Amino acid sequence: MNERKIEQEKFWKVRAKQYNELQWANEKNYLNAVVEAGDFKKNHLVLDVGTGTGIVLHAIAPKVHEIIGLDISQAMLEHSNWQNNKYFVKRDIREPFFHESVFDRVVARMAFHHIIEDTHKAVDECYRILKPGGKFILSEGIPPNKQVKKDYIEIFKLKEERITFMPEDLKEMMKRAGFKNIRTSTYVMARMSVNNWLEKSGLPTQKQDKIFEMHICAPDYFKKAYNMKIIRGDCLIDIKYVIIVGEK
Ligand SMILES: C[S@@+](CC[C@H](N)C(=O)[O-])C[C@H]1O[C@@H](n2cnc3c(N)ncnc32)[C@H](O)[C@@H]1O
Repeated sequence: MNERKIEQEKFWKVRAKQYNELQWANEKNYLNAVVEAGDFKKNHLVLDVGTGTGIVLHAIAPKVHEIIGLDISQAMLEHSNWQNNKYFVKRDIREPFFHESVFDRVVARMAFHHIIEDTHKAVDECYRILKPGGKFILSEGIPPNKQVKKDYIEIFKLKEERITFMPEDLKEMMKRAGFKNIRTSTYVMARMSVNNWLEKSGLPTQKQDKIFEMHICAPDYFKKAYNMKIIRGDCLIDIKYVIIVGEK
């Protein structure tokens, strides 16, 4: 394993312990929006890229023939649950593993912002392994508007190394990989608890406190964009996600 991969494994080992207790990751309406966008069928073979603890994979599994979860982190995969039509593989999506044109659907929720180097290789790989006519369902968290992007980047700088995408960046990457009929929708998760997000993040308390403070001391345009409410010591915000579907 190279140094970056060792660092990544350490990062996910800490996060894996409480990942399944994250409010956003389990929110039913967001999961349903991703599942609905996929238009899954009972005969489908599906790949869930960056499956983590398998939350999305478990939501899709009852609707399809077989689903495979792929992830680089052993620790995250160890928190997943193997049953019936589900399989898991420890791989990096940028390193080709499957044959060409085998999957009916490829899904990736909240994984691509962690693929900092050679992100295009990951998109190209999703394209390569899809059958002609197959669909790629990509979902990422996004700043609520362009004005807030710089604040969003500042906050996340403290939390993790990541890419901040706007919907047009993701669309462009998909277009470049060869995807067509690209459709974009957004989903807003109301009242996400910043306390829950931070407490289950595995971050040291000092960083958690700093990020919390950055929210409550943020300028008015930020609070307005996030529809921020301070209730009983918690900070509740509306989080925006983009769901992009492209066809091979
Ligand atoms: C925020 S979690 C998302 C997990 C899951 N998709 C969900 O929505 O709950 C991101 C996951 O992407 C995985 N990941 C990051 N880079 C990856 C890569 N290059 N190949 C495969 N998985 C990757 C991480 O290990 C982590 O489990």
